[in-house]
Amino acid sequence: MIVPGSTSQSLAAALAVETDRRVADVAYDRFPDGEQLAAVPGFDGDEAVVVCATVDDAAHLQLLQLQDACREAGAERITTVIPYMGYARQDDVFDIGQPISARAVARAISTGCDRVVLISPHEPAVADRFDVPVAVVDAAPLLAGALPSLADPLFLAPDAGAVEFADAVCDAYGHGETDHFEKTRHSGSKVSVDPHDTEAAGRDVVVVDDIVATGATMSAAIDGLDKPAQTVVACVHPVLVRNARSRLARAGVDAVHATDTVEQPCSTVTAAPVVADALE
Ligand code: R5P
Repeated sequence: MIVPGSTSQSLAAALAVETDRRVADVAYDRFPDGEQLAAVPGFDGDEAVVVCATVDDAAHLQLLQLQDACREAGAERITTVIPYMGYARQDDVFDIGQPISARAVARAISTGCDRVVLISPHEPAVADRFDVPVAVVDAAPLLAGALPSLADPLFLAPDAGAVEFADAVCDAYGHGETDHFEKTRHSGSKVSVDPHDTEAAGRDVVVVDDIVATGATMSAAIDGLDKPAQTVVACVHPVLVRNARSRLARAGVDAVHATDTVEQPCSTVTAAPVVADALE
């Protein structure tokens, strides 16, 4: 059975269709003191596929509860699909005394499942932080299917780390050119972006990143574009916190296309096909 976390109900439903599995009845509740209780009263099967984007601390805890509930309900094998892995960006010690948060959460998740599927993690090496086998799948190419008809498109990555995502979308789209900016991060929500080399004036530009969180990276990149014909944002994980939407609008974004690894109004592309491949 597919067991959806409350943050991944759309993707879980699409995955159930894609793999011809049933969706478990999951009850999400809270005690008066605020503690959560996620339960699987109708679980019936040998294998559980828990699907839960850990977009916030509550979702992290819910994922651990669902894994445990499935084991208690008799699941012999538990696969945990983490559509968006929170804390994955803290994948090293960047200052004295800091934790490697990605390792801490990966270890906790590993205790409750037999294998993990990660969708387009920020750094694929995060897979090594788990104590169970991990399959890494990439949903970026699926974004190409949502793009409108573009003339002579330019696919731009806001930093060197996102080039592989821009290349993947460009390849899947079938034609276009790729380039990238150079990004310097000054704080959690302040970045500066140095110009790219390719001419954007009068062209259809698609700025591609793995994550849009505060929108600081995207809006800085788009500010650096010289009069594009249209500006489209494509990202795998539309985390979109704080004023990210209005920030993108103010930067002049015409449309945002994203996958359902994080459930947002712009999550029109399902990542279910690539997850289904990993499950089979
Ligand atoms: C970092 O390198 C990632 O690829 C994204 O660029 C980053 O997480 C986006 O965050 P924000 O929207 O807050 O700038």
